Amino acid sequence: MAGVCPWWLGWILASPVRKLFQDPARILAPYLRPGMTALEPGPGMGFFTLELARRVGPAGRVIAVDLQPQMLAGLRRRAERAGLLARIETRLATPEALGLGDLAGAVDFALAFAVVHELPDQARFFAEIRAALAPGGTVLFAEPAGHVKEPEFEASVAAGIAAGLRRAPGPAVARSRTALLALP
Ligand SMILES: C[S@@+](CC[C@H](N)C(=O)[O-])C[C@H]1O[C@@H](n2cnc3c(N)ncnc32)[C@H](O)[C@@H]1O
Repeated sequence: MAGVCPWWLGWILASPVRKLFQDPARILAPYLRPGMTALEPGPGMGFFTLELARRVGPAGRVIAVDLQPQMLAGLRRRAERAGLLARIETRLATPEALGLGDLAGAVDFALAFAVVHELPDQARFFAEIRAALAPGGTVLFAEPAGHVKEPEFEASVAAGIAAGLRRAPGPAVARSRTALLALP
């Protein structure tokens, strides 16, 4: 566990410059369709969230769950400016849980980007995500390659598998290690 990223870094993580090497549209396009329910634990200020909301369309929804209220406030401001706030629900997590009980079996796609290494209990995290997934649901799991080394990433994937998910190869994303985790 690396400790929680300070909230002011949220502005830097949401910078448009990041699109030059991690383009949310290109990364997310294969996994989303209009009308889907998408979940994003640890969205920060929403670098990926706005694209999730665009892709699920007006009939879909995005649930963004973060530990830090400042991240969620920044996300809401950005979503409002983009005209996407109506599709996005923000939720405040506790260090112990995301609080997804009402979403059991409802989530078509979850994005866990650069968040799992910050969690105190990855087993509990993946158990919560698994319970929220709909049949056929998929998780795109990605970690920053610079500070999550291969063995640590593999240990996180193993936590996902132990929670009942199966692994498939993830997409190529610059500066990242990725895996797809899905219901068997
Ligand atoms: C490094 S940032 C990544 C933000 C975003 N996913 C991105 O790639 O730009 C990690 C985010 O995870 C959040 N986070 C850390 N621990 C969390 C927890 N237990 N539950 C929910 N969010 C958490 C942090 O507050 C922060 O917003």
